Amino acid sequence: MYPDPSSRSAGLFARACEVMPGGNTRLAVYQAPYPIFVARAAGCRVTDVDGVERVDFINNQSALVHGHCFQPAMAAAAAQLQRGTCFSGPTEAELELAEALQARVPGFERMRFTNSGTEAVMLAVKAARAFTGRHRIAKCEGAYHGSYDFVEAARGSSPANWGDPKAPAAVPYTKGTPPAVGALTVVLPYNDAEAAAAILEREADSLAAVIVEPVANRPGMIPATPEFLAMLRAFTRRTGIPLVFDEIISFRVGHAGAQGGYGIVPDMTTLGKLIGGGFPVGAVAGRADIMGVFDQRKGAPAVPHTGTFNANPVSMVAGLETVRAFDAAAVDRINARGSAIRTAIDRLFAEAGIPGQASGAGSLFRIHFTDRPLVDYRSAYPTPAGQTAVAGLHRALINRGVMLSANCSGNVSTVVGDAEVDQFLDAVRACLAEIAVPA
Ligand SMILES: Cc1ncc(COP(=O)(O)O)c(C=O)c1O
Repeated sequence: MYPDPSSRSAGLFARACEVMPGGNTRLAVYQAPYPIFVARAAGCRVTDVDGVERVDFINNQSALVHGHCFQPAMAAAAAQLQRGTCFSGPTEAELELAEALQARVPGFERMRFTNSGTEAVMLAVKAARAFTGRHRIAKCEGAYHGSYDFVEAARGSSPANWGDPKAPAAVPYTKGTPPAVGALTVVLPYNDAEAAAAILEREADSLAAVIVEPVANRPGMIPATPEFLAMLRAFTRRTGIPLVFDEIISFRVGHAGAQGGYGIVPDMTTLGKLIGGGFPVGAVAGRADIMGVFDQRKGAPAVPHTGTFNANPVSMVAGLETVRAFDAAAVDRINARGSAIRTAIDRLFAEAGIPGQASGAGSLFRIHFTDRPLVDYRSAYPTPAGQTAVAGLHRALINRGVMLSANCSGNVSTVVGDAEVDQFLDAVRACLAEIAVPA
């Protein structure tokens, strides 16, 4: 049972606290009172250091679209390990992954690779600033775009500080953020086309970019309304301000990303997670003229971009196998499972007589203890009682062999079958019957 002070995980965490602040190096994988240390994983199952096996609906925060140890990616990476892992020279592997992605998405005219999604967003912001000569970035309230100051404002706002719903405050996310960062960020209310348009019109002259997730992951994988994205596209096209879609998570929603489903071509897209096949990766793709800021062929580029491990061939070959195998049929298959899971969870809440629902899109979902409509960060912001119920469900699921993120979000990989979905839903049904829920 979790938690167990005598477990190996608890012991390792105590040891970790002596070498790392808070005993970890990645806040997202921490859970109180200690994180469960992983020994190994295969397919959709993870085994912890105490020998307990669980079904994985986290997939390293959605990075592993084919689950753990996807054999074509592992074989390609293993072969690459024998040929060398990184060089002071480009490889054909990066070309192949770039070409595969370019062939898939209409707006990917040019592309550059990084080692993380955070870096990809950082690069997109730099490119937009260099291209426009302006500095301010518009982003949506509550949106997570990685750990880069200029896109972190209003990432963790709370009712105590978020301000007017029609003009959300640029609340700094980390202590010590220079005030100038907030002044350079314009915060938009997600899915409120009218209020966001008014803000954008007011700030248009100073904006270098508008960045948005077509499916907002933090509030619960909540899809943007077509009207909201159409407004952003029309505004940015008219004003010449680059529109950046952060598809680091949402790329898995469609064969050409979420943007393909909306039929909207942004000016730039940031990618990460699945395109690295389980290895570190990020990418920014987009219009050739904007991406030209990185081009050194006619003299010093406007944005010199370097990085020791950029486009390392291990990530590239594993990513290529992963992307190739994530064809239209595979996308449809996991999206259908995601949709079935959301419907079933709504039904389980109704049957249990507990207010609650699943939000999400495609193969992504999150469980909430509220039945109010979820459209943005504020509507999805849990009450203290809702937060307690989510924590209770998360823990109860762990003890029934199911792994979700601590906020009860999850995703379906291509290797999940009917048996795992049934196990998950049976566990949710049993947990709802036993946990304390908000009145
Ligand atoms: C939408 C979005 N953008 C950016 C990032 C940052 O990516 P990375 O963790 O690879 O730096 C994430 C990571 O979860 C993300 O979900």
